[in-house]
Amino acid sequence: MKLGKIVLACTLALGVANAQDVMQKSMSIMEQGMTQIQQGFLNNNVELIRSGVKLVKDGNKLFSEEKVIAQYLPKDKKHMVNVASNAAKRINLDINILELNLDDKAYLNAANAYSDILNACSRCHSIVRSW
Ligand code: HEC
Repeated sequence: MKLGKIVLACTLALGVANAQDVMQKSMSIMEQGMTQIQQGFLNNNVELIRSGVKLVKDGNKLFSEEKVIAQYLPKDKKHMVNVASNAAKRINLDINILELNLDDKAYLNAANAYSDILNACSRCHSIVRSW
């Protein structure tokens, strides 16, 4: 291999590794956030819900661009990138609804928004994993 090709191959490999890091970071932050929200609802701990909401919001921000998401879709699912990114948008919307309902002490509605976030997680995973 010529030097230029080796450098190119390394750069590409690094690029993929970085994208992998972003995905893993985003997912692990959102997973922590969802766990906190669930514990918060189950134990009637609003502060825990709020701190979980912040984590999900931050994690979702990292993994919401179509360009990034498309890299993780299997070849035969690339055309579904808009459905996948809609799942990320839905999470963002649900987070707002959850927070507004928390402010209003409308906990049942807030819990429903939490459930809808979980559905949105599964929606994107179903594409990625060909469920
Ligand atoms: C836009 C698409 C998308 C959304 C929305 C999404 N994920 Fe993921 N998730 C992925 C991809 C891509 C992977 C990696 C492939 C796999 O695990 O099958 C992944 C993997 C994961 C993993 C395993 C992490 C790893 O290192 O393998 C966890 C945990 C996870 N997601 C949690 C969540 C949670 C919690 C939510 C919702 C709050 C969520 N995801 C929403 C795309 C998404």
